[in-house]
Amino acid sequence: MSARSTTESPVPDPSRPDRNLALELIRVTEAAALASARWQGRGEKESGDQAAVDAMRKMLSSVDMDGTVIIGEGEKDEAPMLFNGERVGTGEAPEVDIAVDPVDGTRLLAEGRPGAIAVLAAAPRGTMFDPGPAVYMHKLVVNAEAADVVELDMPIPDLLQAVAKASGKRVGDLTVMMLDRDRHAEFKQQVRAAGARLNLIMDGDVAGGISAAWASRPSVDILYGIGGTPEGVTTACGVRALGGRILGRVWARNDDQRRALLDAGYDLDQVLDTDDLVSSPDCFLACTGITPSELLAGVTFDGHGAVTESLMMRGQSGTVRRVRASHRTDKVATYGG
Ligand code: FBP
Repeated sequence: MSARSTTESPVPDPSRPDRNLALELIRVTEAAALASARWQGRGEKESGDQAAVDAMRKMLSSVDMDGTVIIGEGEKDEAPMLFNGERVGTGEAPEVDIAVDPVDGTRLLAEGRPGAIAVLAAAPRGTMFDPGPAVYMHKLVVNAEAADVVELDMPIPDLLQAVAKASGKRVGDLTVMMLDRDRHAEFKQQVRAAGARLNLIMDGDVAGGISAAWASRPSVDILYGIGGTPEGVTTACGVRALGGRILGRVWARNDDQRRALLDAGYDLDQVLDTDDLVSSPDCFLACTGITPSELLAGVTFDGHGAVTESLMMRGQSGTVRRVRASHRTDKVATYGG
């Protein structure tokens, strides 16, 4: 199963600069980060996530778009807000699919650890892969230099050799980022045996995928392993702008998941390429740091307000902007205080 349908992007008119939706979406991820940052280190995963969801939803209602949440907080009966299928935005054009992750790294936020971000992606209606019951995906993300030399099923030593050659590095120079999970024991051992470096993260593989796809950030060369499928689709919107590549295959943790995927018509053997995950280049990604990391500063507060750092990316043009914003939280009710 691929994206639900393929929508061709309208041919851009070079005489008329078109709209960069990410410039508006960044306000949405800023709001989510500002609200959830109050929960840093307080040990309450749900409260931090809820604060981000509330703020994100409120701000989304101001964005001129006719959005449908494809990747949200879950099905309507379990998620009262930002549920899959929820309409968001003012209802004006453009018609877009929306992927939200109000906090990628809820545990990182609750435990006061680095790397939690608020993230949102948009793409023309019908162009995002619908993860449905596909909770997990085996994924691989590399930057543009290595985009044409990788395959998901390459043995890890061959993958490392190919990426090293394409990047003008030695295998020992490469850093592979991976979620620190027991299911990755064999992958970890193979990376170590090949002599490459590992960067094990507790959570947050959207930020990891962005770092791996970003050629000018050589601290991560490859994101590898099994993580969330929704996170994979979101990452693909960023990869479109950054020029790298994401490959993935849905993965079943157990027989129940396998059955659910097969019943829903998913192909457990199909390798999904970047444009299977988001079939239009006309896509956008915005993300804001909540807790600090190498990719993004976290939210900092002073007596009157807060400072956020965000990235916005546009697939059509490949533009990536880094924005530091100063917010007077005592003036803007949305941000709480
Ligand atoms: P949440 O913060 O939304 O729970 O996701 C964190 C995360 O680490 C993702 O970045 C990753 O894709 C997924 O969870 C991995 O799932 P699991 O923790 O079940 O291995």
